[in-house]
Amino acid sequence: MTRFTVIRWTIFAAALVPAAALVYWLFTGNLTANPIDFITDWTGTTALVFLVLSLTVTPLRRLTGWNEVIKLRRMLGLFAFFYACLHVSTWMVLDWFFDIASMASDVVKRPFITLGMTTFLLLVPLALTSTAGMIRRLGRRWTQLHRLVYLAAITATIHFWWVVKADVREPRWYALAVVILLTFRVWWVWKPRLHSVH
Ligand code: HEM
Repeated sequence: MTRFTVIRWTIFAAALVPAAALVYWLFTGNLTANPIDFITDWTGTTALVFLVLSLTVTPLRRLTGWNEVIKLRRMLGLFAFFYACLHVSTWMVLDWFFDIASMASDVVKRPFITLGMTTFLLLVPLALTSTAGMIRRLGRRWTQLHRLVYLAAITATIHFWWVVKADVREPRWYALAVVILLTFRVWWVWKPRLHSVH
């Protein structure tokens, strides 16, 4: 087994810990006095953490020259989607018990829910096109499509910001991370242009 395989499996196992913890707390009755809120917050935060981690892969690769790290990007992105699915399912099943009309009015009436739904809808095509076959078939269009992840990171952060209302201490860190990670991309696009002007 190569060193990288060990890293990959370790991250895979670590990524399952938040889900395993939920199951554990469920069976030990430790989901706080308000389990629905707790599960929603836990899965939402975990989804955002993985989204941010998936955005750190390319800067890490370019800054360190560690090319293999790119092989972790899809896994991190899919874990973001996995936790987003759990998060959205909690809202659909535990909050609304599949009441489509109430869910639709929740999406329309509460701006933070509108942004949560937007984020989720942005992640769906990314997850669906994450297979090797799709990457090959879409070619350059795959790269263009997957730029939607930048938008998803922004909408997810604003969604979080709007959830907490006054106490922005926690979302502030995610916003800072997203701004730094997206600044790398802007810089990489503009740097060659600036050089070509002079
Ligand atoms: C249909 C889509 C979505 C819906 C309906 C939704 C709904 C919610 C709700 C009801 C809350 C809890 C509000 C409260 O505590 O009062 C929440 C919190 C949160 N959601 Fe979402 N969400 C959606 C999608 C997403 C996605 C895709 C992400 C991330 C990728 C995300 C990240 C978060 C985060 C980080 C929190 C805050 C957790 C905390 O307070 O610690 N949400 N969302």
